[in-house]
Amino acid sequence: MKFSYLNSGHEMPMLGLGTYKITEKEEMFKVFKYALECGYRAFDTAQMYGNEEIIGETLEELLPKFNLKRADVFITSKLMTDQHGDKAAAAIDETLRKLRTDYIDLFLIHWPYVDGLERSDLKNGEIRASSWKFLEKACIAGKIKSIGVSNYTIKHLDEMLKDGSPYKARIRPAIDQVEFHPYLYQKEMLDYCDENGMTLEGYSPLGSPKSKDILEEEVIKNLAKKYSKQPAQIVLRWEIQHDVIVIPKSANPERIKANIEVFDFSLSPAEMESINALNKNKHYASDPVDIA
Ligand code: A2P
Repeated sequence: MKFSYLNSGHEMPMLGLGTYKITEKEEMFKVFKYALECGYRAFDTAQMYGNEEIIGETLEELLPKFNLKRADVFITSKLMTDQHGDKAAAAIDETLRKLRTDYIDLFLIHWPYVDGLERSDLKNGEIRASSWKFLEKACIAGKIKSIGVSNYTIKHLDEMLKDGSPYKARIRPAIDQVEFHPYLYQKEMLDYCDENGMTLEGYSPLGSPKSKDILEEEVIKNLAKKYSKQPAQIVLRWEIQHDVIVIPKSANPERIKANIEVFDFSLSPAEMESINALNKNKHYASDPVDIA
């Protein structure tokens, strides 16, 4: 496993398991057991996924079986869009309780919009900035090791980072977790994170769960043949070589195993370029560009 060194001083595995849509305890247990066997040590959840509680139970049962301690795994969760502002402090405590832990490794503001407001409402900026203050407080109190954001565009990040902004952050975000795959190669965002000492994390690293068109691209299939890898492994490797942390979700044992087997080969600069060129600025999830 490779690690990313976050601006918070903490290390984060470059590849973790996404858990969106896994909501049954029995399935979560099987998936985590297999993932831990395969070497996964990072797990990504969110208040919105409704599975923090079963992840807490699962880890409590499984870690001792693997001779692992809490510190051996990295857990990410995210603030739900209806928990912004004053509700954020209690929401963080609720996540701690559900995950059965006294700290969260990484906690993100899930979206820059606030439930109940129009996406274009300027109040979104004011309220998400107040949520950030609660994340900073929880970080200082040791309840969260690293804090960050998700689905923030450069405009949203500028608001937190630029001198003179009324919403300037005291602690800069460690991570921005955004949709990232070969059809959405966010070069500008990658450069921005690099210049501002932040790390980019990519969700939906394989594109749409439904249409597998990225995995059908000739460029990807040819590289898969060349390296005796699967198309998904080529895509994940491309992301990791861009220093993007990836969290592919899978509940399927073969795919869980395949997705982590991406550290034993590397793509050449020309091959990286050939995948970069697939970009279509295509979002499968909601594009946050219209959020004020
Ligand atoms: P499954 O759980 O059946 O493996 P996300 O975009 O949230 O990361 O979800 C990834 C989607 O792609 C899931 O629907 C998952 O389904 C599927 N998937 C995960 N790994 C692979 C893979 N190696 N090849 C093809 N599909 C995959």
